[in-house]
Amino acid sequence: MSTEPLLRARNLVKEFTVHGGGLLGRSAKFRAVDDVSLDVRSGETLALVGESGSGKSTTARLIARLIDTTSGSVEFAGREVHALTGKALHAYRGEVQVVFQDPYSSLNPKHTVERIVTAPLVYQKRPVPGGARAFTRELMERVGLDPDHSARFPAQFSGGQAQRIGIARALAVSPKLIIADEAVSALDVSVQAQVINLLRRLQDEEGFSYLFIAHDLAVVRQIATRVAVMNEGRIVETGDRDQVFGAPRDPYTRKLLAAVPRIRPEWDAARRRNEAARRKRQEA
Ligand SMILES: Nc1ncnc2c1ncn2[C@@H]1O[C@H](COP(=O)(O)OP(=O)(O)O)[C@@H](O)[C@H]1O
Ligand SMILES: [Mg+2]
Repeated sequence: MSTEPLLRARNLVKEFTVHGGGLLGRSAKFRAVDDVSLDVRSGETLALVGESGSGKSTTARLIARLIDTTSGSVEFAGREVHALTGKALHAYRGEVQVVFQDPYSSLNPKHTVERIVTAPLVYQKRPVPGGARAFTRELMERVGLDPDHSARFPAQFSGGQAQRIGIARALAVSPKLIIADEAVSALDVSVQAQVINLLRRLQDEEGFSYLFIAHDLAVVRQIATRVAVMNEGRIVETGDRDQVFGAPRDPYTRKLLAAVPRIRPEWDAARRRNEAARRKRQEA
């Protein structure tokens, strides 16, 4: 039996040099990520929540090794990610995939869906099972896109559909971990719910893990197994979803939860419609 987490980040620190203005123009060090430790277990969804600027994306970039750490460690399947070189680093880039907030800027506008979703396999120098066309069609079906649209370009899709292309691209290499960095934040609420359902279904089918980053607690509640709350570069609380939402321990978590409107406007509208319909029935 293995109790080792898939991903184990310990004491991560990332400092950026901020160049001061003014006469002296001194530069200072700013800690965007300050002693962050977190685990992502196999098959679970760890949600990383916090306000804008709290250091979530920087943490994600350290984990994906898109940037170097100032200090600290990231272990993936027992190996130190920031020590990987050559083939092992190349393999890591296939095991961890990132889905970003804005699909239009993260998908090459000049490439067709087929070229976009097969790119990770090409980069990994892996054969495309069944050929590019059939492979793309299958992936498109799995993420709820019309497979006949594989020769289209990102701009020909809606925001939600374009995000599904980004998800298909992540799936292409059968990753063990998908980092979704505000992946549904830019979508309309109804589309958001559909994409969250898709993400959950894909996880059920494949068994991979998510590091799911969001500032919207209503979204997090729908998908998280566990939640880590981040504030000013630090993780202030980590716990199971129901514990964090139901019995938050940290004052900052309580503050965040209190700021979430109890009833979202669209639920409010739906409730009013239901009530009106019920009154009508009673009157009739
Ligand atoms: N490359 C960078 N250089 C300097 N500061 C940065 C850089 N990237 C992020 N920051 C700063 O680090 C802080 C955390 O940013 P980020 O990780 O993007 O937060 P979040 O994703 O939670 O909104 C912010 O204050 C941001 O301005
Ligand atoms: Mg961010």
